[in-house]
Amino acid sequence: MKRTKYSIIALLSMMAVACNSNQPQVAEKAAPTQEEKVKRGEYLVTVIGCGDCHTPKIMTPQGPAPDMERYLSGYNAEMPLGEYDTTLAASGQWALFKGDLTATAGPWGVSFAANITSDGTGIGNWTLENFRKAMKEGKYKGIDNSRPMLPPMPWQNFAQLTDEDIEAMFEYLKTVKPVKNLVPQAIPPRA
Ligand code: HEC
Repeated sequence: MKRTKYSIIALLSMMAVACNSNQPQVAEKAAPTQEEKVKRGEYLVTVIGCGDCHTPKIMTPQGPAPDMERYLSGYNAEMPLGEYDTTLAASGQWALFKGDLTATAGPWGVSFAANITSDGTGIGNWTLENFRKAMKEGKYKGIDNSRPMLPPMPWQNFAQLTDEDIEAMFEYLKTVKPVKNLVPQAIPPRA
C-alpha cells in the first residue's frame, strides 16, 4: 500500500515535470553583446541629456544647438569665461549658467562641465570603476580620495542607475570621437 502511494506521488510529480516542460520556457537573459551595450549606452546618454551640460553649443537661427564637432567635450578651455555677478552667484539665491550651459557659477564657485569623450583629456584612460565612482558616488575623477563632485552634475540622481546601465554608458562613451580639451579646474568661491 505504502509502495503504491509513493509510486502515485512519483507518477504525479513526473507528470508535473512533463507538463511544465510543455510550457513556453522563460528564456534566460543572455548577457548583452558589446554592440548591445554600446547601443543602450547611446540611448541613455541621449535621453538623459548629458550633452545639455557636457556639449558646447553653436548659435543657429533656431537658437543654440549642440556643437557636434565638440560633442561631450565639456567646457571649451579656449573660451573666455567672461564677466559674471559674483555677489549674485555667492548669494545662494541664483545659479548662473554660461550661455552654452558648460559652466555654472553658484555658492560652490564656478564649475566646468567635464570632457567625457574618449580622449586622454576626457575619460579615455578611465577604468569602468573610475566611471562608476564618479557617477554613483560623486567622486571627481572617479578616485576615492578626490574632492566631491560639484553641482550641477546630477550624480545624486545617477546613483540610482544600475551597474549594467553604468557599464553601457561607459562602453558607449569610449566610442565617442576623442576631443582634446583640458577643461579648467573649478574656481573656489570668492572669500
Ligand atoms: C546639469 C548639468 C550636467 C548634466 C545633465 C550632466 N553632467 Fe556630468 N558634469 C557636470 C559638471 C558641471 C561636471 C564637473 C563637476 C566638477 O567639476 O566637480 C560634471 C562631471 C562629470 C563627470 C566627472 C568628470 C571628471 O573629470 O571627474 C562625469 C564622468 C560626468 N559628468 C558624466 C556625465 C554623464 C554620463 C551624464 C549623463 C548621464 C552627465 N554627466 C550629465 C554637469 C552635468
